[in-house]
Amino acid sequence: MVKNVKEQLVPENGEELTLFLPYDIIEGMKRDELTAALDTLFEPEKFPDPSQNGLQVAGRGEVEKVLLAVDASLETIQKAKEEGCGFIIVHHGLFWSRPFMVRGYMKERLKALLENEISLYAVHLPLDEHPELGNNISLALEAGIIRDGTLASYKGLPLGVSGHFDQARSLEEVKASLNRDYTLRHVIDGGRPIRRAGVITGDAGSLLDGILESGIDLLISGELNHAMFHPFRESGLSGLFYGHYATERGGLLRLREFLERTYPALTYLFYENDTNL
Ligand SMILES: [Fe+2]
Repeated sequence: MVKNVKEQLVPENGEELTLFLPYDIIEGMKRDELTAALDTLFEPEKFPDPSQNGLQVAGRGEVEKVLLAVDASLETIQKAKEEGCGFIIVHHGLFWSRPFMVRGYMKERLKALLENEISLYAVHLPLDEHPELGNNISLALEAGIIRDGTLASYKGLPLGVSGHFDQARSLEEVKASLNRDYTLRHVIDGGRPIRRAGVITGDAGSLLDGILESGIDLLISGELNHAMFHPFRESGLSGLFYGHYATERGGLLRLREFLERTYPALTYLFYENDTNL
């Protein structure tokens, strides 16, 4: 939308003037321009990801407000409607590798998006892995890890952040650096000093073998699943697990800051909807 800008001036003699400034303020952006900007930023075509990344649902052509959220739940879509957001960016979108029937919860989510002309853009692994905005680097920086590599690989794609601390730390010291912002859900104490650490946000279970062989002393991650417990203990690694949701919001917060700086014609909201998982 293009709005003319006028400024009311009241000079000292009291005569009211209306001055039309010689420029327009552009408010809003085309849906397809925003989609192209996100595709350029995240390069989803480079990721062998079960998530169908990119514009999953096309809504209205002009966008003024963008809502960012971790999950494409019905609550997220309803929040976007309430706030007048025509474009949603999520980490966990609607469409993954298997086909979905349009019934039950999927019907309700799609109906809410389509009836309200709201677009849905999903960015899963490309958001986890982005070198500056990503979920992994966000958590690694908060823990004080100095990045020097990746941690594991999925279908040939390097994933996660690995790195070192400026000096060896105890598990308690690493916990102390994160406990202001995160609630610790599970701990495995390998009992050795922490020199090298790795981060995989969300669920790292499918990457277990690569993690155990990566040479780290500590994994910081989201979910601890049962199959991980004994291999960790038997390998002498420590693990700190802060929940799937909690570890996957940092990238969206960084993305919001980036978009605010880069595309200030739009308004951005982050919708907090913690699953406590
Ligand atoms: Fe996730």
